[in-house]
Amino acid sequence: MTETKFDKRDFRTALGQFPTGVTVITTVDENGSPIGCTASSFNSVSIDPALVLWSIDKGAFSKSIFESAEYFAINVLSENQVEISNKFAGRGEDKFKDVSFSKGLGGAPLLTGCGAQFECKTWKVYEGGDHLIIVGEVLKYKHDDSLTPLAFSRGSYAITSAHPSGNVQREQAETGNEFLDNYLLYLMNSAISKYRQDLYPKLIDGCDVTPEQWRVVTILSNTPVHTLKTLSILAMQPLEDLSESVDTLKERGALTVIDDKLVLTDGGMALQKSLLEVAAQHEEHMLSDLSSEQTNVLKTALKSIIEMES
Ligand SMILES: Cc1cc2nc3c(=O)[nH]c(=O)nc-3n(C[C@H](O)[C@H](O)[C@H](O)COP(=O)(O)O)c2cc1C
Repeated sequence: MTETKFDKRDFRTALGQFPTGVTVITTVDENGSPIGCTASSFNSVSIDPALVLWSIDKGAFSKSIFESAEYFAINVLSENQVEISNKFAGRGEDKFKDVSFSKGLGGAPLLTGCGAQFECKTWKVYEGGDHLIIVGEVLKYKHDDSLTPLAFSRGSYAITSAHPSGNVQREQAETGNEFLDNYLLYLMNSAISKYRQDLYPKLIDGCDVTPEQWRVVTILSNTPVHTLKTLSILAMQPLEDLSESVDTLKERGALTVIDDKLVLTDGGMALQKSLLEVAAQHEEHMLSDLSSEQTNVLKTALKSIIEMES
């Protein structure tokens, strides 16, 4: 047996630099009851024949059900299905209560509102360390391209948006494209990209805090006590990933856990103060070409867009 020399948490953090989508893989058990499990390990394998794969933890409740299932379905979640993802990341319990679905091949549940669905026949199951790798042959599929996929990056839920091409190096706002140069979505996207680019390195260099940990500290500084579960929803981090941010913050003395409740310590409050200073200085820098009146107009306009009923 080879001994694992590297740190497991750090290895997971390194893997988190590779963003994925989020799926719920479904099947039925021997009684025909629906079974489902959140998985980000889904990937394409082959176009002809049409093969896909995912891997399941050998410790998962549904492992033996998927191992022997003849059919399964891959439900690719869209951006407004974070709740579904969290629900199916729970262990064992009846996850289909209050979930709308229809039955696909072999009875495998097809969840409503997904960006894509692949109905598969199990092709082969391979050993993969502490996981099983399940390869499926896609017999049927459908997709709804009007939906934005849910993404998962660095232990947090995320959404995808087009990369503002050229923005990273470009110093001028204008691209020369008359439409784009005045198109609000493009401008907001480019502005966010530019804004974030300098901020995150400052947080890491100045305070040794990742954006994911910053989110946890900020939420707790507003309401100092939260259960892990509420914090997981507010921080958009699934429980297991949140636990890692929490453990790191606990180790540096920024927060403590009392009866399953998370509380920011005095050290945590001081850390939040430093983070706010970094963020405020960064904002001041980013808005330095605007008058205070222009800044107010900008913020009011953004708020009114956010509050608009869709
Ligand atoms: C975003 C996300 C991605 C996940 N990806 C996987 C995965 O690829 N494989 C896996 O076995 N578990 C994955 N999990 C964890 C399972 O969803 C979790 O262990 C769940 O309890 C499994 O269900 P079960 O125990 O009822 O079988 C993921 C969880 C989340 C939140």
